[in-house]
Amino acid sequence: EKGGYRHFMMKEIAEQPVVLADALRHYLSADRSGLRLPDEVDFTGVSRLVLVACGTANIACQVAKYWFEQLAGLPCDVDIASEFRYRDPVLDSASWAVFVSQSGETADTLAALRHAQDKVARTLAVVNVPTSSMAREAGLALPILAGIEVGVASTKAFTNQLLVLALLALKAGMDRGRLDAAAVAEHLASLNSLPGLMNHAVGLDDEIRVLANDLAKAQDVLFMGRGPMYPLALEGALKLKEISYIHAEGYASGELKHGPIALIDANVPVVVLAPRDALFEKTVSNMQEVMARHGKVVLLSDRAGLAQAGDGVWSGLAMPEVPALLAPILYAVPAQLLAYHTAVAKGTDVDQPRNLAKSVTVE
Ligand code: F6R
Repeated sequence: EKGGYRHFMMKEIAEQPVVLADALRHYLSADRSGLRLPDEVDFTGVSRLVLVACGTANIACQVAKYWFEQLAGLPCDVDIASEFRYRDPVLDSASWAVFVSQSGETADTLAALRHAQDKVARTLAVVNVPTSSMAREAGLALPILAGIEVGVASTKAFTNQLLVLALLALKAGMDRGRLDAAAVAEHLASLNSLPGLMNHAVGLDDEIRVLANDLAKAQDVLFMGRGPMYPLALEGALKLKEISYIHAEGYASGELKHGPIALIDANVPVVVLAPRDALFEKTVSNMQEVMARHGKVVLLSDRAGLAQAGDGVWSGLAMPEVPALLAPILYAVPAQLLAYHTAVAKGTDVDQPRNLAKSVTVE
């Protein structure tokens, strides 16, 4: 069952290159240079997107907001399902509502879908379980094709959710005249390289295990990033807290000085998610503020990024160099491995953390 791994979570982390490749095969044309999405996925005339989900799926939506805005210029709101369903969200017939869920059964997300059903132009479910309630009830369902996910902490479903949302953002960019076929083909070429890069990231396993033995001694851990790496900071913190029970928070790097930096002392590790993108220098300057207060920085960047900014960090993890679109998907892997090995070092029940259920079918 666990394919030789000690835990389902590790098996599912290691499966990510394969299931991501499966989803790419499904959603791209045979020559891999074009999108193959159902005809209904046409963003012409759509004025706004509302993305609704819980937990890790919600974090995938938060990443996707950056993509829909940047690639398609499409206004995009992200909502927590339990908030959305009890507010009076303003919905209209030119909007689409997208519900993202591994199980397709999460009570709050399903209720949110039912709430939006007749108020928007289209409801779309991005789900892993194709026979789920959300898949059946939504106007259109797109499977993420991650295969059965057993570990309570979502891993491969998260990265495949990100992939499908990235493909939707590219389609939106085309439909809205922001991206031409050549630009899309270029993005798809990078996405096609992602399984290989993910393999490389999974290969950081040993290095991360060593680091995790130290991290396991911490009481609090902070994660930070900018742009789409900000939601990744939230995801790193969520994974760590739910399986290792270490208190962890994710912050937008620029927010640190507005409060959280008061937490920093020599006992607080700060994981900095910093691919060398347009915001790299800014994140590095926030990282230096942390180091000036003796925070123990774990810097995740590529080799050039580590060479440029790695002086004095507690630990540096060299990631492959990637185009900006791929970074949030790729950096999810070390964040998952960090949580996994920290939990293993602490001896917690990795696949079934206390107080949690795989599918939250009660509100
Ligand atoms: C965290 C985790 C949860 C789920 C959330 C939504 O690792 O797995 O936060 O993401 O309960 O579940 P689904 O995606 O089934 O709606």
